[in-house]
Amino acid sequence: MQKYLEVLVDNKALIDKALTLVTAKINEAVATKERCTIALAGGNTPKPLYQALAQAKLPWEKIHVFWGDERYVRETDPLSNQKMAREVWLTPVNFPPDNIHPMPTSSGDPAKDAYNYQRDLLDHFQLSPGDLPVFDLILLGMGDDAHTASLFPQTEALTVNDRLITVGSKDGEPRLTFTVPLINAAACVIFLVTGANKQQALKQVFAPEADGMLYPTRLIQPQGELWWLLDQEAGANINSET
Ligand code: 6PG
Repeated sequence: MQKYLEVLVDNKALIDKALTLVTAKINEAVATKERCTIALAGGNTPKPLYQALAQAKLPWEKIHVFWGDERYVRETDPLSNQKMAREVWLTPVNFPPDNIHPMPTSSGDPAKDAYNYQRDLLDHFQLSPGDLPVFDLILLGMGDDAHTASLFPQTEALTVNDRLITVGSKDGEPRLTFTVPLINAAACVIFLVTGANKQQALKQVFAPEADGMLYPTRLIQPQGELWWLLDQEAGANINSET
């Protein structure tokens, strides 16, 4: 794993850097494989990045987007990660519908939906059960409790290592999420973290020793590149030697 850390002066600088990096990774994958697979982060932080991507000139027909996690709500629900990305990016660029792979959240059975998404992933990557898809790029955020995707502290989802997709739980609310092994199989993971409220969690994540069950983001150690893009508020206690 190659680890990179940049602390950017403010949110705008962070989004500019993220756009440059994501664009480079997409072009790299398309140049070598004629295709690129990306898993999107949810929450608020990535929204301006998706808005910026809507202005970019990229070969959308060669890109496939998935989601690293999803709240278990309808796609029309304001909480839906899928809804946000479609509204600010995928719809405005007329992203090819067949290249958009949302997590299913309407059967009423999260475990079944998780299984079906796993099956769709294996089909898309033309793999057999037990194989790990290698995403070209996985975007992640981090909560102030050091969760990432929907891998929340002290939840069973953190220990799932025989599946690609599992059911996470936030205060008892189900969410679908990539598992740690699936994220760690990625060629490149980029964390986007902003705000002073993330400082304490980041300190624990970057600490030499701490419990991954308490600070799940520590469990993300991808076989490829791991990028941390922090704004100054979030990264106040983090230095580049970390
Ligand atoms: C979600 C995300 C989640 C998010 C963090 C940070 O579905 O909410 O996947 O893991 O990345 O909670 O959220 P903010 O970017 O809103 O701080």
